[in-house]
Amino acid sequence: MKETRFRLRDIKFFFRFAGSAGWIGLVAILLGIVTTMLASLLPLSTKILIDFVIMKKGFVRLKEILSSLSLEQYYPAVKTQLESLTFLLTAIVVLALVTGTMGILQRYLSVRFQQHLTYNLQLSLFEHVLRFPLSFFRKTPSGYLTSRVSDDVDALQHLFLDNMVQILTKLVYLCSGFVILFSLSPRLTLLLITVLPLYFIISYIFGARIRSASWQEREFRAETSQSLQEAFSAVELVKSSVTEKGEVKRLSGKLKDLLRKRMQLMLLGQSSQYLSKAVQIFLTVLIIWAGAHEIMKGAITIGDFVAFSTYILYLTQSATALSYTHIMLQPSLASMDRLKELFMYLPEVTDKKLYMPSVLRGEILFKDLYFSYDGEVDVLKGINCLIRPGETIVLAGPSGAGKTTFVNLVLRFYLPSRGDIFIDGHNIRDLDPYWLRKHIGLVSQEVFLFNDTIYNNIRYGRMDADEREVIEAARLAGIDEDIKMFPRGYNTLVGERGLSLSSGQRQRISMARTFLRNPPVLIFDEPTSALDEKNERRLKESMRRLFLGRTVIVISHRSSLLEIADRVFQLQDGLLKEVSRV
Ligand SMILES: Nc1ncnc2c1ncn2[C@@H]1O[C@H](COP(=O)(O)OP(=O)(O)OP(=O)(O)O)[C@@H](O)[C@H]1O
Ligand SMILES: [Mg+2]
Repeated sequence: MKETRFRLRDIKFFFRFAGSAGWIGLVAILLGIVTTMLASLLPLSTKILIDFVIMKKGFVRLKEILSSLSLEQYYPAVKTQLESLTFLLTAIVVLALVTGTMGILQRYLSVRFQQHLTYNLQLSLFEHVLRFPLSFFRKTPSGYLTSRVSDDVDALQHLFLDNMVQILTKLVYLCSGFVILFSLSPRLTLLLITVLPLYFIISYIFGARIRSASWQEREFRAETSQSLQEAFSAVELVKSSVTEKGEVKRLSGKLKDLLRKRMQLMLLGQSSQYLSKAVQIFLTVLIIWAGAHEIMKGAITIGDFVAFSTYILYLTQSATALSYTHIMLQPSLASMDRLKELFMYLPEVTDKKLYMPSVLRGEILFKDLYFSYDGEVDVLKGINCLIRPGETIVLAGPSGAGKTTFVNLVLRFYLPSRGDIFIDGHNIRDLDPYWLRKHIGLVSQEVFLFNDTIYNNIRYGRMDADEREVIEAARLAGIDEDIKMFPRGYNTLVGERGLSLSSGQRQRISMARTFLRNPPVLIFDEPTSALDEKNERRLKESMRRLFLGRTVIVISHRSSLLEIADRVFQLQDGLLKEVSRV
């Protein structure tokens, strides 16, 4: 998606993330405006120096201005001050010091405001994205998503500080400059105004292109980050298949796309800058030509002309900077669109009032349930089954039959395509998924461990558990002895995704994590697939004790696990049937 429109609504949307720091931003902007207005007085000093201090001329106009303001009685005092070189120099120094100090303060406040905004924005975005349904994460690679949540936020922060303040202050400078120019020479000012729109035409033409190219550049950047992340996490596969060169080639393709886009962006930026400079030179030449004629006609003084030229220089610089900033703003705006897109994606629970019963007894009823991931092929076809509270069932069936899908539906990771699931008599569509998942413990087929200590990985099951409980859970899962053998015991770091442990150890740690949670409903997806007989036997004993009074679904191919089942189901070709013990 490529958006190229600028909307104030979007700026307001993101400005909200500044929260309590919003006023800091406003003060910074105000300070910027005041500083600019004061700074715009500085070039007037050349007129005062030439006309009043050196030539002692041009006081007639001053007298006129003062009397039009009914301040005639101050004329002698003002005249004496304006003729004095000391006064002029002191005024210049004071003005420079004041604007300098205010400039520093403005910068400080802006950065504070920006940091606040970035912090809130990134945190809210992360929280928002975590609430997306599982299906979103299944189709969006994590490296790509990471880049969108971090790179785009980085790019957006410049929007609020550098670019917005720049644009506002440059606009103020242009306005106050025009007022002063107009008082110096209305005719020259009108001439200037006729040429100025050229800047806006340049901004308009280049702005849209740069924004769309920036969108693509961000997209390529996200894809590059995805490629990198994929290659690093699959490094074992890469090494064993000796595809290092292939991976480098794959990345080089992505990098080339990225570089090409960046070159295009650079060229667009440079061309727009070049054209703005050309307009600036044209303007200066035009004003000098017209100004010289005005002096020769006696319409303006030399002091007026010198001050006018100085202003023209500043103003054209401001106009160039304005059109340039407008162009530089485009990447931030592209990032803003991309972030907005993520914010607009609906979380799995919208405002609809969902039900949260006080307890979960653990009755699970599947009624004529059909489920399809893609809306075409039904993975589960007409499932009818009642799992009573406190019952342990074992679910068997060939690979790809839909066993994991079956339990994912109980966790409300996906909603049924047709038919219903009732938990304790409540339709799962009406139940709050966070409440439901809090009451269901899952040991999934793909074990995930964080790059942290064993202790913290187990405690992830229940963050408030104490050391005794963690060790007890590890004992029940039959991993306690292994852990004690490690030199650093429970403080052993498990490496990324737990890869410095054996798969059997990982499986038992994830089991301990769920035992620690101790919920009324338990789901085990192939819990013993990586365990040897001895460990499996020990685990079976723990399970027997733990499963008392709970509803448990165990997915397993191991016939040895069938003994713990009250009933055994077989899932094949999307159909579920109860079988006697195999
Ligand atoms: N996120 C998904 N998107 C699309 N199709 C999926 C998705 N997850 C699984 N499937 C498909 O659904 C079918 C059932 O998958 P499921 O993971 O439930 O099988 P399983 O019985 O658990 O197999 P295994 O014993 O190998 O774990 C498979 O054909 C699979 O390709
Ligand atoms: Mg499975």
